Amino acid sequence: DLSPAERAKRAAAARALNYVETGMTLGLGTGSTADWMVRLLAERMKAEGLRVIGVPTSTRTAAQASALGIPLSTLDDAGWLDLTIDGADEFDDARRLIKGGGGALLQEKIVAAASDRMVVITDPSKHVERLGAFPLPVEVVRFGHETTARLIARVLDEHGLGGRRIALRGGPSGAFVSDEGHHILDLHLGAIPEPERLNTALNVVPGVVETGLFCGIASAIVVGYEDGTARVIG
Ligand code: A5P
Repeated sequence: DLSPAERAKRAAAARALNYVETGMTLGLGTGSTADWMVRLLAERMKAEGLRVIGVPTSTRTAAQASALGIPLSTLDDAGWLDLTIDGADEFDDARRLIKGGGGALLQEKIVAAASDRMVVITDPSKHVERLGAFPLPVEVVRFGHETTARLIARVLDEHGLGGRRIALRGGPSGAFVSDEGHHILDLHLGAIPEPERLNTALNVVPGVVETGLFCGIASAIVVGYEDGTARVIG
């Protein structure tokens, strides 16, 4: 028996699969909601003869999808994708997202940006008036990452976010390492007044690889509910 939270995730994933057509090249997101999407996709491929090629956004999703028999390609071999379906940690009414809670934000952003459409699968617990309650993940190269954190603190100062906590994910002795070999800094901002502007400013800091702010990327957001229904925004 599924918990209410899992039912909501499954409902979102199932609805998002309505966007999938045979012959598509499909970006496969990462996270517990994307897990549902991959499982249900594999079921539909078996049951209905649906044919797709998947491009995974993480080693974790790659392992799951290949174990389920979904044919996979790399982004460079696929070239351009028809659709990416992925989860999010937060979304607002302008379809802006915070992603990267699972640490795969870099590949997720590259794959989403290389897709005709990005459909986000979520539940109401992720909806916010203003992004930023969820700590913003920022992927940074390992070299000089403490200095990069200081440079980020300066950017935050300039954006009215001075003094906010910047935490190295995993801590100094067990720092998290992403699939691409980087660290992640989690920025505890509380609220982000201008997400587009902050994203641009952070992305030009030396040492920053990418931020978890997705602005102007999601084409639709599917919100799943505990009763098994789903609603599409956008
Ligand atoms: C992975 O890096 C994240 O961007 C995930 O998409 C995000 O954490 C959503 O995960 P859940 O579906 O598990 O909440």
